[in-house]
Amino acid sequence: MRWVYIEDIVGHSGREVEVRGWIYNKRSSGKVRFLLVRDGTGLLQGTMYSTEKDAPLFLTFDALTQESSVIVRGKVREEKRAPGGYELEISDIEIVQIARDYPITPKEHSTPFLMDHRHLWLRSQKQHAVLRVRAEVVKAIRDFFDGRGFRLMDTPILTPSACEGTTTLFETEYFDQKAYLSQSGQLYNEATAMAFGKVYCFGPTFRAERSKTRKHLIEFWMVEPEVAFATLEDVTELGEDLVLSIIERVLGKRRAELETLERDPKPLERVQKPFPRLKYEEILPRLQEKGSTVKSGDDFGAPEEAILSELYDVPVCVSHFPAAIKAFYMQPAPGRPDLALGVDFIASEGYGEIIGGGQRIHDLALLEQRIQEHKLPREAYEWYLDLRKYGSVPHSGFGLGVERTVSWMCGIKHIRETIPFPRLLYRIYP
Ligand code: 4AD
Ligand code: MG
Repeated sequence: MRWVYIEDIVGHSGREVEVRGWIYNKRSSGKVRFLLVRDGTGLLQGTMYSTEKDAPLFLTFDALTQESSVIVRGKVREEKRAPGGYELEISDIEIVQIARDYPITPKEHSTPFLMDHRHLWLRSQKQHAVLRVRAEVVKAIRDFFDGRGFRLMDTPILTPSACEGTTTLFETEYFDQKAYLSQSGQLYNEATAMAFGKVYCFGPTFRAERSKTRKHLIEFWMVEPEVAFATLEDVTELGEDLVLSIIERVLGKRRAELETLERDPKPLERVQKPFPRLKYEEILPRLQEKGSTVKSGDDFGAPEEAILSELYDVPVCVSHFPAAIKAFYMQPAPGRPDLALGVDFIASEGYGEIIGGGQRIHDLALLEQRIQEHKLPREAYEWYLDLRKYGSVPHSGFGLGVERTVSWMCGIKHIRETIPFPRLLYRIYP
């Protein structure tokens, strides 16, 4: 008998098949027994009929518990009332293992309890849907860059220097030297961009964030394109296209998951190009009018992001921040050296900053000065300075956080559910 996955069952109507999975639920109704089996790709209803309550198949049914592993065999039948529109007329059940006292029952559980059982929680429908959306987002990102001729460059995770400020660095030993877990692949990508023109890296990044929020992970995944000769405006457009292509893919291929999550697709459907472009100095008074206590020169935080979501029902691009609050590598604005040519994309509906990036300093003397001002150890950046000595060109890029993007797509308020095993301030288990 042919082993099929539930998501492929459509093509097997009328055939005898085998499904391998786990018991999600069961119920009986008179002479019929219903099993809900999950196999990782979907849920399938199995039915058994008998006039005798101790028919062998019914006895096996009675022994089954939530999350017991089974191989069920039977004939596929179209059934409008069943989840997915098909059911299996079960003729045989092979028990692989009986699960005893599965801890996550259909009742409500507290978040700490679920987080302690994350390794099992992943099996429940909502978590399953979120992670399928995540996989689609990752695929959409790769297809987007590969389709535009960007080269994938895997930048190192163990690094000798900081990219995004020294306060969130994770330090580790590298034999007899100090090393840090990468906060961003950007600096290395500036080198690969000068070698390959347009590149992207895609990998895990680490920040020792001391604040406990719904939007911060300690370990998160970031995709970072970098383009030689590109300006702030060029990469802002690139970011818009990327965000649109992710939304299009999720709406096109993961509608069922969004439904499971009760995610209203309308806020995603209305996102169009161009996104509103706001300069820091222009938007500041509007934020203050709406009750923000942010002062000129301050960075935006969660309250400002929330107000921006009230003002706009689509993502916005905020640029021209005070240079003082931005990273050392940011190119100053022409005629306004106090402003940086950086851009942040703030997602709609309060999901916060999903993209941060901008134009990089390409002038050697200015970059040397910034490294000094930021008290960074010059020796660790010699190679980075070389890029400004040998064929330096204006160049730009950005980083998009995968988990924040998935939160937004799924309408999930807490980022911890968007990665299989979240690393949080007070949690490294499981
Ligand atoms: O704005 P950030 O810090 O930018 C950079 O790291 C640049 N070096 C990227 C570049 O230009 N190549 O981070 C970029 C994005 C943020 O907009 C956010 O989506 C995500 O990474 N991010 C986090 N996501 C989850 N948890 C955290 N602690 C995050 N920190 C940043
Ligand atoms: Mg940022």
